[in-house]
Amino acid sequence: MLIRRARPDDFPTLQNIERAAGEMFRDIGMPEIADDDPPDLADLARHHQANTAWVAVTTTDHPVAYLIADPVDGNLHLEQITVHPHHARQGIGRQLIDHAAEAAREANQPALTLTTFRDVPWNAPYYERCGFETLQDHEITPGLRDIQTREAAHGLDRWPRVAMRRQLGQATQED
Ligand SMILES: CC(C)(COP(=O)(O)OP(=O)(O)OC[C@H]1O[C@@H](n2cnc3c(N)ncnc32)[C@H](O)[C@@H]1OP(=O)(O)O)[C@@H](O)C(=O)NCCC(=O)NCCS
Repeated sequence: MLIRRARPDDFPTLQNIERAAGEMFRDIGMPEIADDDPPDLADLARHHQANTAWVAVTTTDHPVAYLIADPVDGNLHLEQITVHPHHARQGIGRQLIDHAAEAAREANQPALTLTTFRDVPWNAPYYERCGFETLQDHEITPGLRDIQTREAAHGLDRWPRVAMRRQLGQATQED
């Protein structure tokens, strides 16, 4: 799958990908997550301008997955990574994460970070398989803690959440 920078004309497609993937959470009793709004256009534009929004596209240049990230505490924080369910389990998620890892290395950012649901099979257990480790409480840096506070205010903490880090320069299983 080809990965390229997201463009403004992709944004509505990215919102549709988010809505479609959200449905996976309805099936496991987390309808509030399914009903959550996708990133708004201003948020996507901000990531586009910061050069931290990427899409995976088909041969006809149609986006089927995206990743947006932010610099947080010196690392590259994966804010959202979503693959359309019709294209899931083909390695596209891992490819996008590896692309972000390469961008982070080029920017001299030593690690990728993210926050996610601990018990959702395609969240923390999946990221562990992609080389991320769950941070202990004392390892959570101030920027990550702010993100967790915002997420809690949004109600996400009604299910267990974790912060995770993938140190760069380390090989993952498939590297
Ligand atoms: C998480 C996500 C990005 C993974 O993308 P992907 O391209 O399907 O992942 P990959 O092909 O790289 O890896 C597939 C692995 O993900 C996990 N996985 C993906 N979908 C899964 C599902 N429905 N049930 C259980 N595990 C799943 C499995 O470990 C799977 O490996 P397997 O197929 O060998 O069992 C994608 O599932 C997604 O968009 N989910 C919804 C949005 C989301 O949860 N975002 C993260 C919020 S913090």
